[in-house]
Amino acid sequence: MIPKISHSGKTHFFLNPKSKILNRLSSMVKLEFSKDFLWGAATSSHQVEGNNHNDWTKWEKENAERLAKESKQSFLWNPHWKKFKKEATNPENYISGIACDHYHRFNEDFDLAQSLSHNAHRFSIEWSRIEPSEGDFDEKEIEHYRQIIGALQKRGIEPFVTLWHWTLPLWLAEKGGMISSEFPKYFDRYTEKIVEALGNGIQFWITLNEPDVVSSHAYLKGAWPPQKKNPFLYLRAICHLISAHRRAYTTIKKLSPTAQIGIAKHQVAFEMARPTFINHILKAIADWSWNAFLLNRIRNHQDFIGLNHYNRNIIDNGFGRNPNATQTDLGWEYHPDSIYQALVELKSYKKPIYITENGIADSSDELRQKFIPTALSAVHRAIRNGIDVRGYFYWSLLDNLEWDKGYWPRFGLIAVDFETEVRTPRPSALLYANICRNNALSAEDRVTEK
Ligand code: FCB
Repeated sequence: MIPKISHSGKTHFFLNPKSKILNRLSSMVKLEFSKDFLWGAATSSHQVEGNNHNDWTKWEKENAERLAKESKQSFLWNPHWKKFKKEATNPENYISGIACDHYHRFNEDFDLAQSLSHNAHRFSIEWSRIEPSEGDFDEKEIEHYRQIIGALQKRGIEPFVTLWHWTLPLWLAEKGGMISSEFPKYFDRYTEKIVEALGNGIQFWITLNEPDVVSSHAYLKGAWPPQKKNPFLYLRAICHLISAHRRAYTTIKKLSPTAQIGIAKHQVAFEMARPTFINHILKAIADWSWNAFLLNRIRNHQDFIGLNHYNRNIIDNGFGRNPNATQTDLGWEYHPDSIYQALVELKSYKKPIYITENGIADSSDELRQKFIPTALSAVHRAIRNGIDVRGYFYWSLLDNLEWDKGYWPRFGLIAVDFETEVRTPRPSALLYANICRNNALSAEDRVTEK
């Protein structure tokens, strides 16, 4: 008989869950999750819908030539460069266009998600469709998202609704977007409208996706629209996003008191190579500024933590000392186990955690087939160690537009042929489906774990 380790930890072995023996043993056993665990994948409106009209679509058109020209310089270091050179040097790659045409094909996509045994799905509402000009709300577009929610619910898939995944209506971008002191007011009005119209039956809301990533790329790196490199503007943007979240939290609670509300927070696992004094200081600074600052400021305005996790950062008298033994297509280090540390470090918030994004760009799908069971066994290990994890959304359901990188990074469980819009579930999608269906990682699923 195959021993089982349950989510509740009631069948815990007599060994300390941190012990190496238990971890080795656990690779041979079935790892079960709690019976109401949410399993699914995530998308965002601009990355999949197609035919949007927002600050990003405008920026893409203005910057596609430049991005194509700079791609060689930006990516020559990447071991996979040859594989995507043709796409990356083509300006068309950077134009969102019709994307996955998910706006029209959502039924087909949700049929696939259902056939893959997902019981939850995270998606975002496109603000620029809902409020194309200031104060004018488009009822037809609200109806579109009503259909999306209905289509999910009809298939037994729990909608996890993100209100803002980075793109702005043009009128708001012109007013300064995130750095406008009116941002929280506008976001609150939009939130109120959506929750009043669509909130009935929605249990989970994510107000903002990765506020720190979007504001730092726009105002610290100066790489994303509106490309204004100025640390003061970054701080201003972050403060406005925090206050936008708090206001929206209060508004949603007022309209829908039982709804669960959070942020999708980008957390990095900062690891010390050696426990030296300097490394301790560097880790404390990095953890405070990147991981904790924002979460501390919204501590009393969140019911759960949405964890978006993609990387670790090794500290050794400096940052980014990762060995990078294996790299994904984007050149990011392949290290699925780092989600364990990210989860453990969230324990002090004493809130349930939903993993709202975790995934890799891998057009070959070979790494992804190892990534999913390895990441999920790290999640299970965290659960055994007392972390209250309640769901996992793989990023992403579909191949899609990876922001300023365009279409070549392939994150999807489902491959999309952008010429024909044909969808093909990858082997990893089937492997993940097995896990979702069984609500457990079986020993067979874990053969590829690494
Ligand atoms: C996250 C974003 C998501 C996607 C993944 C790869 O930071 O939230 O939209 O681009 O990275």
